[in-house]
Amino acid sequence: MKFHRTWITLGAVLFSMQAYSQSFWATIDKDVLSTMEKNQFFGEKGIKSTGDNIAVVEIDERNLGHLSSIMHEEFRRCGGFVRHDSLEEAMGVLDNEQFMKSMNKAEVANYTIDQDATVNTMIAQVQEMNIRSQIEKMSSFKNRYYKSSTGEDSQRYVFDTWSSLIQGRTDAKVEYFRHSGWGQPTVIMTLEGASSETIVLGGHADSIAGWMGGANATAPGADDNASGISTLTEVIRILMANNFQPQKTIKFMAYAAEEVGLLGSKEVAASFKKDNLNVIGVMQLDMTNFNGSQEDIVLMTDYTNEAQNQFIGSLIDHYLPGIKWGYDKCGYGCSDHASWHNQGYPASMPFESRKGAMNRNIHTSRDRLDVSGGHARHALKFSQMAIAFVVELDK
Ligand code: BES
Ligand code: ZN
Repeated sequence: MKFHRTWITLGAVLFSMQAYSQSFWATIDKDVLSTMEKNQFFGEKGIKSTGDNIAVVEIDERNLGHLSSIMHEEFRRCGGFVRHDSLEEAMGVLDNEQFMKSMNKAEVANYTIDQDATVNTMIAQVQEMNIRSQIEKMSSFKNRYYKSSTGEDSQRYVFDTWSSLIQGRTDAKVEYFRHSGWGQPTVIMTLEGASSETIVLGGHADSIAGWMGGANATAPGADDNASGISTLTEVIRILMANNFQPQKTIKFMAYAAEEVGLLGSKEVAASFKKDNLNVIGVMQLDMTNFNGSQEDIVLMTDYTNEAQNQFIGSLIDHYLPGIKWGYDKCGYGCSDHASWHNQGYPASMPFESRKGAMNRNIHTSRDRLDVSGGHARHALKFSQMAIAFVVELDK
């Protein structure tokens, strides 16, 4: 009897494994197509369609482990694909590609530079020590994984930190944007202006480590991306200290679940689009504290808006003349700016170094502040740049 039940259970397990070993639709960058094909990662339908840079493919769930290791070793990417709920959704991304190409160059906002007094006053107040201590606090959580309790605790920490910074301001609020698929929420701070035009500055707050990631891994994520969130926290502190009252609406976002496929920002950007919100500029800060190359600030050219990127370059030249900047590309939708870009919003992603000179310790238990010298001098430049962006774009 007992023996019999074991076999029935085993049968049920095998059956359900079969049921779960399904495939799903994904969009990937074309440069990985041949490697994926060679390794037979695709499901029955394989490559469905290809655009200029992106392809819609069917990926077999059973190959996910192998696929992620190849992506890591050959392309230094995690995942390397964006998972979609349906073929229709995936094809939508491809359809949008052409449209985006023109959008990509469009000047959506007023990109003049004339707020010298305000910007110069504020950027002189950025303090390395504040950014450093925020990085230390955020990286002291065992991990900030989207499905772990510490990943929820760390978002409560961001919520509380931002809440205390806006105390006494009736035009500001901090809220959770909850996600249905996992516990970790996105945190959003809103500074309300009279105009509905909205400026978004964000970074992901989650962290991940190890091949499989997971809720038990040690993932300090000091550079990826406690640095970006701490850079933003210092910007909020300074806007508040100077009683900055924007004309437009400014939103600061600490996204959940970026490391597992931009899931948090994808939901946020889709909800903004659905509500027809008028976002005129998005800045993504993901990895700001590792000074790896000649260029201090590197603007990623893919999944971003060319005119806004040029504007940010001009802001750096104007307000931070000692700072070198350049262009590079991720080669794929490497962070939350891609979620906004895919909804048609102008996004930029100023990064800590050239791609080839980036911090190699990310996604491991070694992503600690000491890798960046134990200080936040590099991130400081990003707080200054972000302040210039907010003040100049707000007018
Ligand atoms: N911070 C990285 C993105 C990154 C890495 C930008 C290297 C520039 C250089 C981000 O958190 C990340 O790991 N993204 C994933 C992709 C995402 C779709 C899961 C990646 O790069 O593999
Ligand atoms: Zn990151």
